[in-house]
Amino acid sequence: MISFQKNIDLKAFNTFGIRAFARYFVTLKTPDDLHELFQSDLYRNEQHLIIGGGSNVLFTKDFDGLIIQNNIKGISTQSENDDNITVEVASGEVWHPFVLHCVNRNWGGVENLSLIPGTVGAAPMQNIGAYGVEIGEVIKKVVGINLASGEAYTFSREECAFGYRESVFKKELRGKFFISSVTLTLTKKNHRLSTQYGAINDTLHAHNITSPTIKNISDAVIEIRTSKLPDPTVLGNAGSFFKNPAITLQHYELLKKTHPTIPGYSIENQSVKVPAAWLIENCGWKGKRVGDAGVHQHQALVLVNYNAASGEEIFSLATNIRASVKEKFDVELVPEVNIV
Ligand code: FAD
Ligand code: EPU
Repeated sequence: MISFQKNIDLKAFNTFGIRAFARYFVTLKTPDDLHELFQSDLYRNEQHLIIGGGSNVLFTKDFDGLIIQNNIKGISTQSENDDNITVEVASGEVWHPFVLHCVNRNWGGVENLSLIPGTVGAAPMQNIGAYGVEIGEVIKKVVGINLASGEAYTFSREECAFGYRESVFKKELRGKFFISSVTLTLTKKNHRLSTQYGAINDTLHAHNITSPTIKNISDAVIEIRTSKLPDPTVLGNAGSFFKNPAITLQHYELLKKTHPTIPGYSIENQSVKVPAAWLIENCGWKGKRVGDAGVHQHQALVLVNYNAASGEEIFSLATNIRASVKEKFDVELVPEVNIV
């Protein structure tokens, strides 16, 4: 049985800790709740937005409609052999506890994605990624419920059209489907360990680990992330505010002449991925604070809410950062965070 609440402060429901009010708010706990929701007048008459953990949204104003908070849980094994296991996970499961569920059973594939906040259902939305792995690599299928017809559709991995922080759910089908479950295939042995990225190898060496297990990698990622990224329960944030931009090789070579230390790594189509954090830091923004909105002192790509910043203030800071990066480097930064 669902119950609609009125005029709810969303501060506790977004990791930026932004105060914004939703006209209506409902929490879904079971698949039946979703069916009940579809039959309600309120759902039919109001604009709506689904949220999971609210760790990738910025509310810039009150939401004049219905916020649907997803809390539908359940993990079930679909198939299993000596090598692999395929599990279907309900979208309201919280991502990191699910990762630990896998790590503790020595199921490989998601250990590099340890400690990413949010729900399983939001993970395909932007194809969450960290430390050389993206969730799209282990996704077998995604079940979505069409928000207009209420019908279920199973998306194959190819239909999800995963890219860097992108998917069909973030682009063409944005706001059109409720992701109800995600099915992943994980390894039970012969794991494809990924330790090359960032400080994983250094961290493993520091602990004298030469043949890492799934758990060793998860622990290393947790250690690195804890030292780098602000904890949203202490300092409001939504992780990286912008995506790392890809620029042409010619553009990169031009920038390298005037800024010889600019980092970059080649990707497909003669493009170079440049860390947005470096561009932002080199425009002088790192550690800057405007009222209660700020740029994190240790990670220039993370915008923070020191206490009572409004969504508009964070957005205005982001707009100014974009403008200075454009002016100094002629590079367009694109927000990763979903602006509401
Ligand atoms: P929300 O913020 O609630 O929603 C995000 C978007 O998905 C919204 O547009 C929402 O409408 C939509 N959505 C949510 N659930 C559903 C659903 N069931 N069906 C359809 N649409 C849905 N991301 C990374 O990729 N890599 C990182 O390393 C990373 N690190 C982070 C670190 C910190 C400290 C923080 C705060 C965030 C980080 N993020 C990272 C971003 C964030 O954790 C992910 O984007 C996460 O998947 C968001 O999950 P959520 O449940 O909080 O989504
Ligand atoms: N750097 C700076 N200044 C800073 C921070 C970083 O110049 O203040 C430069 C350094 O050259 C550094 C490089 O940026 O080597 C990359 O920094 P980092 O390793 O911290 O990663 P990132 O590119 O900033 C990305 C993801 C993160 C993910 C990490 C680890 C994006 C937009 N962000 O950050 O994802 O956790 O790599 O894989 O791709 C998120 O999406 O919310 C997120 C946190």
